[in-house]
Amino acid sequence: MTPKHVAIIMDGNGRWAKQRGKERIFGHYEGTESVRACAEYAVEAGIDYLSLFAFSEENWARPEAEVTELMHLMAKSILEEKTTFEKNNIRFMVVGNRSRLSADLNRDIDEAMAGTSANTGLTLVVFLSYSGRWDIEQAAAAWAAAGAPQGRFQDFLATAGIPDPDLLIRTSGEQRISNFLLWQCAYTEFYFTDTFWPDFRKNQFRQALDEFASRQRRFGKTGDQITQENNDSK
Ligand code: FPP
Repeated sequence: MTPKHVAIIMDGNGRWAKQRGKERIFGHYEGTESVRACAEYAVEAGIDYLSLFAFSEENWARPEAEVTELMHLMAKSILEEKTTFEKNNIRFMVVGNRSRLSADLNRDIDEAMAGTSANTGLTLVVFLSYSGRWDIEQAAAAWAAAGAPQGRFQDFLATAGIPDPDLLIRTSGEQRISNFLLWQCAYTEFYFTDTFWPDFRKNQFRQALDEFASRQRRFGKTGDQITQENNDSK
């Protein structure tokens, strides 16, 4: 089965660059090529949502020069990928603590989101200045302000309206969630690969989808119950 929503922790850009004797930013630039390749393959594979963890709340603590370069790269990519979005009917979204982003970057994001809001293909969600704990805290505050327990808690998360991820991929051999979609990954399948993000392209993505298709998701039930449910729905 094809997952409806795939989330990716794009890791290993710095190490990829270091292996080649280059500056870390070189890895981030090459990583944007993987972003395009994976977005295009997600369209081809019929995935509805592709979530990319591009910059965490914790990433603000990186050396200032790297933060500046990453923010510049985000703005550049958003402007340059407009044709990719149009060609592939992609709806573009940014989720995160946008109050920490510059006014210029926020303006570019707003423009790209408004310009692609009517697109009906893949929804590409880029997580910027995001952390799972930040999201839960801001949702709890908003929920309380709305007079909790009015409404469902998840409707106050920054990801409201986006289904929970079916599959979470992390590249570069690290096996942890690093404060990404903490609430949303309750029943998500995890896939780890040693491949560094700049080398993660169509074939590597396809391999992850094949592995996902071979798993049985039980959501707390027994294997027999799931087999029965599958037979009943045939
Ligand atoms: C992790 O590698 C990667 C990042 C913190 C940045 C991800 C950004 C991009 C791929 C570029 C732009 C993205 C979009 C959506 C246009 P790392 O720096 O942690 O690598 P390391 O673990 O090897 O040091």
